[in-house]
Amino acid sequence: MWRELAPVGRHPDSGGYRRYAWSAADLECRAWFRAQAEARGLTYETDRNGNQWAWLGDPLAGDAVVTGSHLDSVPDGGAFDGPLGVVSSFAALDELRSRGVAFTRPLAVTNFGDEEGARFGLACVGSRLAAGQLTVADAHRLRDADGIALPAAMESAGYDPDTIGPDPERLARIGAFVELHVEQGRALDLTGDPVGIASAIWPHGRWRFDFRGEANHAGTTRLVDRRDPMLTYAETVLAARREAELTGALATFGKIAVEPNGVNAIPSLVRGWLDSRAADQATLDAVVTGIERAAREYAERAGIDLDVVRESFTPVVEFEHALRDELAKILEGSGDTGRPVPVLGTGAGHDAGILSASVPTAMLFVRNPTGISHSPAEHAAEDDCVAGVRALADVLEGLACS
Ligand code: GLV
Ligand code: MN
Ligand code: MN
Repeated sequence: MWRELAPVGRHPDSGGYRRYAWSAADLECRAWFRAQAEARGLTYETDRNGNQWAWLGDPLAGDAVVTGSHLDSVPDGGAFDGPLGVVSSFAALDELRSRGVAFTRPLAVTNFGDEEGARFGLACVGSRLAAGQLTVADAHRLRDADGIALPAAMESAGYDPDTIGPDPERLARIGAFVELHVEQGRALDLTGDPVGIASAIWPHGRWRFDFRGEANHAGTTRLVDRRDPMLTYAETVLAARREAELTGALATFGKIAVEPNGVNAIPSLVRGWLDSRAADQATLDAVVTGIERAAREYAERAGIDLDVVRESFTPVVEFEHALRDELAKILEGSGDTGRPVPVLGTGAGHDAGILSASVPTAMLFVRNPTGISHSPAEHAAEDDCVAGVRALADVLEGLACS
């Protein structure tokens, strides 16, 4: 499975993946998913929001055990963020079949669409739509950098955008959703465990800062006559770092758009996107308020107009304790360490976090020796990936077989 996926959407220069929602690379990933489902004799379907499903057993029977993740990527993402969960789901199913277990509940593997939000700016679009956490009207307003609307992108990829919307009947058929994911930090590396269980996802969001000044000639405009929004943006980036350190939160400006974007022109507009996360809501509120206050002060002083828009927000997710405890019990004594499987929180967002408001949800993490993620350098050792598949198979057997 890795060999087949490896070249799809990989940029030859960076070595990173550019699998943006509804792009040619995404469609290739989707075709791969369908082929995997069909090769295993699973019932394949796409739901009304373009998420992919591969069913073993009756999709309509209810109380299903569902596992999966996503196949899209951030710009120059790594190979594992998303695909490790999908590949491991198919591999765990193969493992269960070779164990000859009898399934008492329907089982499904999923690929949720547009998890990263790299193209339209909003993460987890497929699961948010299904769970009713993104309205159809708001989905229609999403545009990519070229101005292409989400429905148009879906349509040109051969999917029907008129069907998108909440899917409560489908979610009601899920008894448990388990997402396996590469860890995006070094907690497991530090404890020396190949696999962990998720406890919670930090609250997090994205804010757009538009700094507007005055375009002018870089070679003739005196410094005192300039209204340069790049300077205010730069001061705001430094303030974000300072506020994050003061509050114990995380704050990142990782994406920027400049107009007119000419080397010899003072910009008229600098648009920067803030990604901020914290362990609790009060800390997140404090850091974002502090950054915005600083930005407004700098803007005021420099004659720059500033608009701040919150583009998305995901509240804290505490994964269901009963299911989490069940996973811990199933995996008790399964590793080589003799210790209980570690339970850890994360600052990364996941479809499992979105779905947790509608269905009992849990996550497994696989050790990432460097902790690097959202980068071509993201890695997980083969032995640890195999340990992840074994753990997922154990969990699915414990939940779906008797
Ligand atoms: C998803 O990977 C996110 O947390 O940004
Ligand atoms: Mn990611
Ligand atoms: Mn992911």
